[in-house]
Amino acid sequence: MCGIVGYLGSKNAYPIILEGLKRLEYRGYDSAGICLYNGNKLISNKSKGKISKLEKRISKLKTFHGNIGIGHTRWATHGEPNDKNSHPHSSNSNDIHIVHNGIIENYSAVKEELINKGFHFHSETDTEVLVNLIEYIQIKENVKLGEAVQLALNQVIGAYSIAAIDIKKPDEIVVARLGSPLCIGVGKDEYFIGSDATPFLDYTKKAIYLKDGEMAIIRNHKPTQYRKIADDSFTNPTVEKLEIDLAKIQKKGFDHFMLKEIFEQPSAVIDTLRGRLRLKKGIIKMSGIDDFIDKFLSTNKITIVACGTSWHAGLIAEYMFEKIAKISVEVEYASEFRYRNPVIDKSDIVIAISQSGETADTLAAIKLAKKQGAFVYGICNVVGSTISREADAGSYTHAGPEIGVASTKAFITQITILFLIAVKLGKSRGVLSSKQFREYIYELNSIKKKITKVLSSNDKIKKIAAKIKNATNCLYLGRGYNFPVALEGALKLKEISYIHAEGYPAAEMKHGPIALIDKNMPSIIIATNKLYYDKILSNVQEIKSRKGKIIAVVFEGDKEISKIADYTIEVPETIPALTPFVTTIPLQLLSYHIAVKLGRNVDQPRNLAKSVTVE
Ligand code: F6R
Repeated sequence: MCGIVGYLGSKNAYPIILEGLKRLEYRGYDSAGICLYNGNKLISNKSKGKISKLEKRISKLKTFHGNIGIGHTRWATHGEPNDKNSHPHSSNSNDIHIVHNGIIENYSAVKEELINKGFHFHSETDTEVLVNLIEYIQIKENVKLGEAVQLALNQVIGAYSIAAIDIKKPDEIVVARLGSPLCIGVGKDEYFIGSDATPFLDYTKKAIYLKDGEMAIIRNHKPTQYRKIADDSFTNPTVEKLEIDLAKIQKKGFDHFMLKEIFEQPSAVIDTLRGRLRLKKGIIKMSGIDDFIDKFLSTNKITIVACGTSWHAGLIAEYMFEKIAKISVEVEYASEFRYRNPVIDKSDIVIAISQSGETADTLAAIKLAKKQGAFVYGICNVVGSTISREADAGSYTHAGPEIGVASTKAFITQITILFLIAVKLGKSRGVLSSKQFREYIYELNSIKKKITKVLSSNDKIKKIAAKIKNATNCLYLGRGYNFPVALEGALKLKEISYIHAEGYPAAEMKHGPIALIDKNMPSIIIATNKLYYDKILSNVQEIKSRKGKIIAVVFEGDKEISKIADYTIEVPETIPALTPFVTTIPLQLLSYHIAVKLGRNVDQPRNLAKSVTVE
């Protein structure tokens, strides 16, 4: 949700910031802008649209360079995406420029006060209010940029990461964060700023992740100063060594990141299992669980909080945990949980699932759970992310960077971790016999091969996509473990193709959605579960007799449903708890090919951003 980049050193800042913004474009792509200090003055260029548009604009200028600068790629919150609302925003005197990721909640009250004091505004953004508040304080208190930023941030309510520069002190950049991520790349006599570390991976592998409530005055003439925003105490942050592989954030010959990430799923699952699934020893090793096993054994209830696709992974976990470990599970939208006065205390375990580890609602939900004494376990993909730091313990999914806005491999690796936990707890709680435990882990070990087999149906799925691409509505149906898969399939279609889709438990169809069925309404039915096979067969017949088109995902060698369905996608057979691994992937591919055929921007669908760091 907005990406921030900055540079301070002796190189030309423009290409560094521009390329850095391209790597952060997954965070927002409504508009972009860059402000540089060219040795004489601050020069700024910004516009509505993608970074490539900004690049074209700037390429027409004779000069646009400097050794210090800040840049921004936006996902609009306050004010529609247009040139005026683009960042960087400047103060009334044009001395101070800032880029901001987050929301200043009390901006309208502050704006009114500033207007009364003679300030004027050109945009509808909360950021322009913040930069003018900084300027007002700077003048009133006669302080430098760092102090003015600190004083201003103590007056605002909300979430932010910001980077600010001031013509009066052009050799420094002031950064701060609360609720939105920000890290500083430390080079030799140079500093880089990023919402994550990817913008500066080419230049340094050393990074400082600012903690919530911290700020830094980055300068090239004396040591950078790190301190808390709330008081004047200094902090001494640790410089971390980055392990991110640059090749992993490139497309590697695929047309889109999403397709690359779908095809990375077999190896992503292996990376998630590495070191954890120890077949020879017949154990699952997960230090996050092992170190707190007493808590997991004594709890009566696990609450899972997450949003979007991660919430769907949580729903699958509910089936896994209850069946395999006999633990009662509730799955909550983090956005609802945080405001619902949930009955949670110190005997509870709350599991937060988040690819980015930055989702504002999920973060707020775990803060609330912690406040009420619960033990919080984080399942995140992004290493060092805020949720992973806030949690009491946790597991990384190790899916590698996920750039496509629609989540694919993160989901598959989330359910991998959740299955490992379910089986591990099933064994530890004495629910599973050693034999059952071994059956589960051996089947899990074979899942990579099965996923690879599913991917070999890509061409067939592409042809099916061509047949249904003109539908305006689709129904996704599944039961048991495959009900959340139906929800996930519908979400994938909606977000990247803009076709309306609904996911339903198949048995619910007759309670309403069946009214929608006609020849124009394709139904995508997941019919792999043997337990419900006959019941789903009846649903298929009900749809067929109303002339609905049927795309069925079935196990290899299926006889009955394949005869009735218009199109079938066969997947290798596995145990019920692992069917989501093989049934989700055809739905990802189907959405992908439909979206491509409709000419959608698959990796950057409209109105979306990869990580939602605002409410
Ligand atoms: C859908 C998608 C979103 C995210 C949701 C939570 O493809 O990507 O629904 O799953 O915004 O994000 P994380 O997992 O980063 O907390």
